Amino acid sequence: MDKDKAVNYAVGYAPGKVILVGEHSAVYGHEAIALPIDAGVRVAITRLGLKNGPSIRGLGSFFMGQTFYFDRSSTQGIISQVFQYLMDKFGPRMQEVEIIVDGDLPRGHGLGSSAAFSVSLLRALSNYFSLQFGDADIAFHAHALENIFHGRSSGLDHTVVIKDQAISFQRIKEEMKIEIIELKVPISLVIGLAGPHDGTKNAVAKLFERKKRMQKIYDHIFLGLNGIAIEIKQALLDGNMAKMGELMNIAHGYLCALGVSTTEIDHLCSIAKNQGALGAKITGAGGGGAMIALANGNEDAILSAFNSAGFMAFKAAAGANNQNLR
Ligand code: PMV
Repeated sequence: MDKDKAVNYAVGYAPGKVILVGEHSAVYGHEAIALPIDAGVRVAITRLGLKNGPSIRGLGSFFMGQTFYFDRSSTQGIISQVFQYLMDKFGPRMQEVEIIVDGDLPRGHGLGSSAAFSVSLLRALSNYFSLQFGDADIAFHAHALENIFHGRSSGLDHTVVIKDQAISFQRIKEEMKIEIIELKVPISLVIGLAGPHDGTKNAVAKLFERKKRMQKIYDHIFLGLNGIAIEIKQALLDGNMAKMGELMNIAHGYLCALGVSTTEIDHLCSIAKNQGALGAKITGAGGGGAMIALANGNEDAILSAFNSAGFMAFKAAAGANNQNLR
């Protein structure tokens, strides 16, 4: 596309996500269930006045007001690698754009912030350069960007973020099986934050090492999580929240056994259950990050108990279609 035909301003939006079951086991080909949430990332693209770009400018809480410039001499920094990828794929016209990022999704907490950033950025670029990207194009580039952020990712995060609906996801080698789950009842969560996690890449790599030492034991746990995914899918279809809560608690137990929970996350899960949550579990890669509580009408009590214990938290509607937030 001729750069002179590019519009001067374009935006893109993508939601964050929670994983109900299947974090880590998804990396080994097991089924996972994930839902989008009504918090996300918005990207605006504008034409840069000076030809020294591109740059990424953060607004609000997302990048905490930081600005990142593309450093041609660096191949190390993640943002430099992202810029390099975009230059390779979109060409020299990328030199002249400024990327402005805003959002209400906490970063680095296992809530899909890198996937939401990648997808909203690609949507904005598609609009800006009139590329008319479909979901398959967005998925192709988002997976490449997720691999920069996370090492080899299963693809679960960017898939649920793009679909913006509850999904069952399974990746066996290069093949992805994705099923949309029609929710019978809306899902109301309270999300507790236990501080930024150690990075998905690290969590996946450390678990890989532990698994190598006791292959069979870990394989049993992954099979257990796969069984929970099948049952949670049915609970979502039936609107059986009590069953879903119980399955979330069991999944949390398995994730503790995998060594990806922390005392803070476990504490948050106990608080939530004491306040009437039907279930509570870690969500995402772990080692810190976030947990989810299935609130069952007790949202305010759970939220205020989290805050009283010194944790940041927020309410989230999960599984809803967030297209109207774009
Ligand atoms: O990036 P997170 O914290 O949302 O974790 C993604 C889920 C993992 O299973 C840990 C990694 C993956 O690629 O599936």
